[in-house]
Amino acid sequence: MKLELVNKRLQKFERLVNDTTPVAAPENWHVGIDLGTANIVVTVTDEQGEPLAAFMEWAEVVRDGVVIDYIGAIDIVKKLVKQANEKLQIEITSAIASFPPGTDPRISRNVVENSGLKVEAIIDEPSSVVRLLQIDEGAVVDIGGGTTGLSVAREGKIIYTADEPTGGHHVTLTIAGNRRISFEEAEKIKRNGSAGTLMPVIEPVFRKMADIVRLHLKSFDVKTIYLSGGTCCFPGIVNVLEQEIPDVRWILPHQPLFLTPLAIASYRTTQDSG
Ligand SMILES: Nc1ncnc2c1ncn2[C@@H]1O[C@H](COP(=O)(O)OP(=O)(O)OP(=O)(O)O)[C@@H](O)[C@H]1O
Ligand SMILES: [Mg+2]
Repeated sequence: MKLELVNKRLQKFERLVNDTTPVAAPENWHVGIDLGTANIVVTVTDEQGEPLAAFMEWAEVVRDGVVIDYIGAIDIVKKLVKQANEKLQIEITSAIASFPPGTDPRISRNVVENSGLKVEAIIDEPSSVVRLLQIDEGAVVDIGGGTTGLSVAREGKIIYTADEPTGGHHVTLTIAGNRRISFEEAEKIKRNGSAGTLMPVIEPVFRKMADIVRLHLKSFDVKTIYLSGGTCCFPGIVNVLEQEIPDVRWILPHQPLFLTPLAIASYRTTQDSG
């Protein structure tokens, strides 16, 4: 799917997030569940993949890509599903689940099933974005809260995936250490901050992320990288990545925070190019 259309959907997603205003649901819909290290997101789209509802909660139930607090994760998923049910006057009974590359998909599957839902399909997170954007040649780099995930496509097939434990948490920790403030305060400063004052402090973390990308992509001739994940919201991150890896075209979607959740929910609206 063209980036322009995905960007339109991301704009809609941004308006919809945690909006409880009731709307009539179409006859058929799809549900995706993203169990991230920072956010858990339940997304409902229509049959074409247009977002209808999205509920998101900051969660400390996943660390380094792995669910550490099952009960906490299940409670949040149940709550978000209930909100989606109420907004759309539907009863969600199944969902598309996701997992970070290299981790055991049964972990996410267990959380979703124990939330009372059937797992219709399960896909790794960056590969869901490859699929939504129908990338034939290139890669997706998803820099989330706890991890950086990668998926490489060649001739329309996914040929490599990986996940490394470096993400936005490390950016926040670096700010907290530098300014001698709490994690929560540092998180606020980061999200509202401008690149000018913070960049000198956190640039080394972005360079480390570039090292991860370089290391994993070194044996592939990748010319285009699409970014996803909340950490890519930080103004100026793309400049650092471009400086570090200049021979690649970096593409930043309108709202990278919502791209992976949208892609997971859209799984069944897109063709398997592989
Ligand atoms: N405006 C912003 N500027 C900088 N960072 C941001 C911004 N908004 C969100 N973030 C960061 O994005 C991260 C969350 O992104 P995302 O929701 O993609 O992660 P996740 O999917 O929960 O984690 P993972 O994919 O690593 O499991 C957090 O570290 C958060 O601080
Ligand atoms: Mg994520």
